[in-house]
Amino acid sequence: MREMDTELTQSKFKAQAGQAGFPTVRPRRLRRSPALRRMVRETGLTSDDLIYPFFVTYGEDVAQPIASMPGIHQFSVDRLAAEVKKVAALGVPAVILFGIPDEKDPIGLENFNPEGIIPRAIRTIKTAVPEMVVITDVCLCEYTDHGHCGVLNTGDGERPHPHLEEGHVLNDETLPILGQVAVAHAQAGADIVAPSGMMDGMVTAIRKALDKQGYNQIPIMSYAVKYASSYYGPFRDAAEGAPKFGDRRSHQMDPANVREALREAALDVAEGADFLMVKPALAYLDVIRQVHDAFPELPMVAYNVSGEYAMVKAAAGQGWLDEQGVVLETLLGMKRAGADLIITYHALDAARWLNEGD
Ligand code: PBG
Ligand code: ZN
Repeated sequence: MREMDTELTQSKFKAQAGQAGFPTVRPRRLRRSPALRRMVRETGLTSDDLIYPFFVTYGEDVAQPIASMPGIHQFSVDRLAAEVKKVAALGVPAVILFGIPDEKDPIGLENFNPEGIIPRAIRTIKTAVPEMVVITDVCLCEYTDHGHCGVLNTGDGERPHPHLEEGHVLNDETLPILGQVAVAHAQAGADIVAPSGMMDGMVTAIRKALDKQGYNQIPIMSYAVKYASSYYGPFRDAAEGAPKFGDRRSHQMDPANVREALREAALDVAEGADFLMVKPALAYLDVIRQVHDAFPELPMVAYNVSGEYAMVKAAAGQGWLDEQGVVLETLLGMKRAGADLIITYHALDAARWLNEGD
C-alpha cells in the first residue's frame, strides 16, 4: 500500500514537472557549489577596506578597557608601536586617531600643540610602522572643557554674537582653529586629516591652511554627512568628549534628512574634499548609496560607529548571535551600499576572519 503511494506521488510529480508553471529560469543553478558562488559574487570585502580607530591617552603602559566597547581600549603612546604592528600584520592599511588630552580649555589648545597627545602618537606610529596610513580626527570636542565641537557664544561678557543664543557653536570662529589643528597633525606626520565637526566651510578652511604651509599633498577625508546620532554614546565614554550641556543638533544632521546629505556632500566636493564619509553607517545605508551614486568619483567612507559595535558585542557576548557571521555580513552590507572603505572597531577581528577564509 505504502509503495503504491510513493509510486503514485512520483509519477504525479514527473507529470507535473513537465508542465508549464515549473520554473525554467533557476537562479539556484549558480549557487550549487562554493566555487560557483565565488564566481558570481558581486561585492568584495578585504582587509584593505578597513580602517581601525585608536583612543590615545596619557600615562605609561596604559591599556584601559572601554566598558561599553568590549575589546577596545584607551592606549598610552608607549603602547602604540606594538598595537599598530598588530594592525599592519593583519593587512589593515590605516588607523584613525582620537586623543584624550591632559587638560581641557574653551578652545582645545592641546589639539594643535606640537607636543600634544595626537602629534606624539603620530610620530610614534610613523616611526614604528612607516607604511601605516595615519588619519587624524580634526574636531574640538575631545579637547574643549565644554565638550562642544567649536568655540561657543559665551554668556560671560564676551558674547560676540548677541543675536545668537548663549552656548551656540560659532562657525566662522571655529574654522581657523580647525586649520591650525590640521597643520599641527600634518607637521607631526599625519597622512590624512579627517574633520568631523560639521562646520560650514571646514574643508575650505583646512585646505587653505594646509596648502599655505606646503602640505598640498595631504588629503582631507571629510565627515561630509554626519548625523546627530544616539549611536555615538559608547564613543563619548571612550573619548571622554560628551558635551557638558545641550547636544550637537545645531551642526550635525537631522536623521530624517537625505536630500540635505546630498547638499552637504556637494559642498564638500566643491571645497576640495578627497574622501566623503557618511556616519553612522548601519541606519544610513540608503544615504551611503545615494551619496555614492551622486559623487561616484570620490572614495566613499562609512563609519561603523561605536553604538553599532556595542550592540553586536553585547548580543554576541550573550551567545545570542554568531559574531563572525554578523560582523562580516554587516561590513559587506556597507560595501554593497556603496562604501569603498569602512572605519570599524571590528577591523582587527574582521581582517583575521577574512584572512583565515582565504
Ligand atoms: C567627534 C567624533 C564623534 C565620533 C567620531 N568623532 C562623536 C560625536 O560627534 O559626538 C563618533 C564615533 C563613534 O561613535 O564611533 N567629533
Ligand atoms: Zn566634535
